[in-house]
Amino acid sequence: MDRNATPSDRPRRLRGRVLLAGALGALGVISAVTVSVPAGAAESTLGAAAAQSGRYFGTAISTSRLGDSQYTTIANREFNMVTAENEMKIDATEPNQNQFNFTQGDRVYNWAVQNGKRVRGHTLAWHNQQPNWMRNLSGSALRQAMINHINGVMSHYKGKIYAWDVVNEAFDDGNGGRRDSNLQRTGNDWIEVAFRTARAADPDAKLCYNDYNIDNWSWAKTQGVYNMVRDFKSRGVPIDCVGLQSHFNSQSAYNSNYRTTISSFAALGVDVQITELDIQGGSAQTYANVVNDCLAVPRCTGITVWGVRDSDSWLGASTSPLLFDSNGNKKAAYTSVLNALNAATPNTSPSPTPPVSPSPNTSPSPTPPVSPSPGTSPLPGGCSATIRTVNSWPGGFQSEVTVQAGSSSVSGWTVNWSWSGSQSITQLWGGLTSGSGSSVTVRNESWNGSIAAGASTTFGFTANGSAATPTLTCTRA
Ligand code: XIL
Repeated sequence: MDRNATPSDRPRRLRGRVLLAGALGALGVISAVTVSVPAGAAESTLGAAAAQSGRYFGTAISTSRLGDSQYTTIANREFNMVTAENEMKIDATEPNQNQFNFTQGDRVYNWAVQNGKRVRGHTLAWHNQQPNWMRNLSGSALRQAMINHINGVMSHYKGKIYAWDVVNEAFDDGNGGRRDSNLQRTGNDWIEVAFRTARAADPDAKLCYNDYNIDNWSWAKTQGVYNMVRDFKSRGVPIDCVGLQSHFNSQSAYNSNYRTTISSFAALGVDVQITELDIQGGSAQTYANVVNDCLAVPRCTGITVWGVRDSDSWLGASTSPLLFDSNGNKKAAYTSVLNALNAATPNTSPSPTPPVSPSPNTSPSPTPPVSPSPGTSPLPGGCSATIRTVNSWPGGFQSEVTVQAGSSSVSGWTVNWSWSGSQSITQLWGGLTSGSGSSVTVRNESWNGSIAAGASTTFGFTANGSAATPTLTCTRA
């Protein structure tokens, strides 16, 4: 099963569009770019508009409202991805230990697929909405119950779910560490055990880590989750996606570094999905910003709003957080989202574009996203190292260094460089760093020291200061 796309949402990249090729010498980065000019009819629903760039646009669906024809009419017309708002959670699917109940989950699932939509599964391991029997478990009994629950639910929906939120909300709000919970007290490895169990239970489902307050790149919680995903990728723990719930309100407001958050997660080699979007006050501009930030990152594959009308929102209608008012009318935010989706350029498609390098017209301004790499050290018999800027934002940037073996294999490597300005590394992965002042030394981790002749490995880092591409020196061990 292709879990990336169905025929209905594959990119229809060229339809109704005029492509112009041009030189972009001013950037000095990529010599030719594709500029798209929307021409012809724009799509008139959110799902169809998102599908133009290979993305989906979804909503949470509640069985309690499936009898409301205004609700189902709007939901069916506008959205092509569905998340069960509560019906696939632990308390709903395993109300008594080892007695699974999929009555409500199947109602949501069947409504979705009978109307041609795909389904995100939400959620398998969470400290909240646990049935009483699970709340009272601890230690190895709870660990085993978690594994059994994942297996039970995922086998029921095997091959049917686009992506599962395997683990939900496992990080603490304040300090970037784990949230205390009965699951966390079973041992720090509970999250990776959940992911490994999930991969074995349904190899066709994308496996996501989902959380709130991980939208702002500068927040410790965001960095905590980022470090976990980076660690999982480096150790081969199966994870395919990160869900940014994106419940925006005055305490947790949209910030313009959201695009950096999305692209930084994507650069780790996972998809990013906006999974539970609502915006207190319903600002049309903020909704457009969120959509444009997703569209700017090839691996941001879709957006789900957490309800249809304001009156359906878990936050209450008075906060006006969604795209339709309580009477089912389209709000200004709806129009701004639809327009943003219709303006998406074909080369922002999530597939088959490579995961890391954004195209020039999707870069955060003013710095170009991918810079040239002048720093190449001598290769024959030794190794070379090249640096490129993956992303940049005011006051900081993210880079990737490729270390390549020359004509013979390398069993260990060291890369050195000097910053010409006041850059300083804030986080580095895929290597071990030392050095002081402007001088940086990075040597291999135990798992990426060996490189076959002609092959390469990479390490990455984030840094303070302005993006720079110094000349690197590579030395073999
Ligand atoms: C909410 C539902 O919308 C409510 O109906 C329910 O009472 C509580 O849960 N993060 C999540 C979602 O992952 O599952 C939550 O959904 C909202 C916050």
